[in-house]
Amino acid sequence: MDVRRLTDRLGGLAFGGDYNPEQWDAEVWKQDDELMRRARVNLATVGVFSWALTEPEEGRYAFDWLDAHLDRLHAAGVAVDLATPTASPPPWFTLAHPDALPVGPDGTRLTHGSRDTYCVAAPAYRLAARRIAAALAERYGDHPALALWHVHNEYVSLCHCDHAAAAFRVWLRARHGSLDALNQAWGTAFWSQRYTSWEQILPPRRSQWHRNPGQALDYSRFWSDETLAAYREQRDAIRAHSDRPVTTNLMMPGYQSLDLWAFGREVDLVSVDHYPTAPGVDAAAHAAFDADRARSFAGGAPWLLMESGTNTVYVGDRVLPKEPGDILRHSLAHIARGSEGALFFQWRQSKAGAETWHSSMVPHAGPDSRTFREVTATGEAVARLGELAGSTARAEVAVLHDSDAWWAMNVDGLPSAELDYIGPLRRAHRALWDAGLTVDFAHPERDLSRYRAVLAPALFLLTDAAAENLRRYVADGGTLLVQHFNGIVDERLHARLGGYPAAPLREALGIRVEEHRPLARGEEVALSDGSTISSWSESLRTEGAEALAAYTHGLLAGRPALTRHAFGSGHGWYLSTRLDDASYTALVGRLLTEAGAAPELPGLPAGVEAVTRHAPDGRSWHVLINHLDEAVPLPQPGHDLLTDGTVSRLPAGGCAVLRAIVNAHQAPPA
Ligand code: GAL
Repeated sequence: MDVRRLTDRLGGLAFGGDYNPEQWDAEVWKQDDELMRRARVNLATVGVFSWALTEPEEGRYAFDWLDAHLDRLHAAGVAVDLATPTASPPPWFTLAHPDALPVGPDGTRLTHGSRDTYCVAAPAYRLAARRIAAALAERYGDHPALALWHVHNEYVSLCHCDHAAAAFRVWLRARHGSLDALNQAWGTAFWSQRYTSWEQILPPRRSQWHRNPGQALDYSRFWSDETLAAYREQRDAIRAHSDRPVTTNLMMPGYQSLDLWAFGREVDLVSVDHYPTAPGVDAAAHAAFDADRARSFAGGAPWLLMESGTNTVYVGDRVLPKEPGDILRHSLAHIARGSEGALFFQWRQSKAGAETWHSSMVPHAGPDSRTFREVTATGEAVARLGELAGSTARAEVAVLHDSDAWWAMNVDGLPSAELDYIGPLRRAHRALWDAGLTVDFAHPERDLSRYRAVLAPALFLLTDAAAENLRRYVADGGTLLVQHFNGIVDERLHARLGGYPAAPLREALGIRVEEHRPLARGEEVALSDGSTISSWSESLRTEGAEALAAYTHGLLAGRPALTRHAFGSGHGWYLSTRLDDASYTALVGRLLTEAGAAPELPGLPAGVEAVTRHAPDGRSWHVLINHLDEAVPLPQPGHDLLTDGTVSRLPAGGCAVLRAIVNAHQAPPA
């Protein structure tokens, strides 16, 4: 089905957020219309938590309230992103279908009274979800307010119930074909775990000691596939009645229960939710990290920031407000990297219920507040960026990202509790962000030839195909940095024998790792080049590579720690330990210089973020965000869309979106 682009329907970038009018009355709705107009809201996500209202009892739908809100929003010039309410089944549902409640790994079945109290593998839940999605699509598929379908909300919850067990067995049969193959893959010869019938196999529930790692990894894969199947059913039920694009908002936390590459292929528009977890410039780096991931899951296409905390930064056990100006800066950080707008959770701060203290576009204090003034200013800014619609950012460097490798790091029994997937991934991205580069994330098996440099910070699990792909990338002229504890197991979690990392990759790196030697928690030692390391070390020898820095402690003294190998027409670098921040940033800088990767807009000081969005017709725009406390002169003056005037400097904390000067002789980018 040909779906019309969201921004064509909106006539520009999207601005708005989750709108839950069922919490309020007619007086407030009237005020909402007026305030949305003031804030330039053009898209509202409606219905996310409305199951109890829309289907008050099984099979009986009540649409009057929703008719009224959709018509009202349409009259007010606000388009609707209509959600299916399946993330929050009402109490009647769970009382009628208690077997659809989720069960934890310890066997405890949850009760209703919160949200996300469902198991995606439970047949009753799947049926009810399909039914309500179809009913909504039938009624609203052609509604003039409708611009986008929003299936569910953040598919993140896990379950270990008997329905999940049954579906897992079906999935395992398809993956492994026979019990023999499964036993082989899971290494059940050890600890007497051999399965002799499929019915014996369970989800990885709590057990006495380490759970079988193959079982745990397969369960993660299964769960992602099962969730994707649940999404597809709703999507297809909607598509039968509607030609509007369909998405589901992907949560971007520091854990992940879904393969977001797979979801990226099944949605009409990738949409993500981002909540910063640190204040100040770290929040900006975090926004860039999630935005670059979102664009990558979209295959480089434009995507949408579906939710972000309006005035919220989650730091440890408290929720901080954002710094003045952050609402605009964070919104632009996402737009710079290809988001077709900026949406928030939620429009009006709840006065009661579970999320009373989550910030919103209209806070408890009302429109006479710093938050609403900043929201309005951001809405005005976004409204000026309509010409960016359909363009996207491009990158010359990539960080490798693989869900299997992530899930593999969560299994029991790894050699150090400090081994982590997402930390090294964020650190690699941060070093590139600090260097002023736009970053793609790439799956390790995809063609990498377009990238000048590729970083592999966390690929504990590496398939033969990926190892060969990386070898070829270096041979063909690429610059690759592989970090410690990479290429250690194959897709069945079987250890690589004969030395790490996996053989074809080792060839490109010119090294062979013989032994892992985790450091004690908090232990710091020096390398021969003066850098400090912590957490991990490895005993390795060079097989063609040059050693750039050596260990100086204990048994490893004098042995290589950091190596570089000229291989084919490229270079394979290997870092066998965790460097201190400054040394890691310097190392990434050396690599970028060698690879010839430079910021797209040179001449700006560190601390000024600059990302370019390119349109298919060759036009481009530089989005600039000054994170410094002082004004910064621009390398050359330009026309700023935010002020519709020429700018030659960025004030402290200021932003600009410059139309790039098109060189008539320059061929439009591919
Ligand atoms: C999101 C979620 C929203 C809301 C928000 C609160 O992850 O999708 O429904 O709960 O967090 O910050």
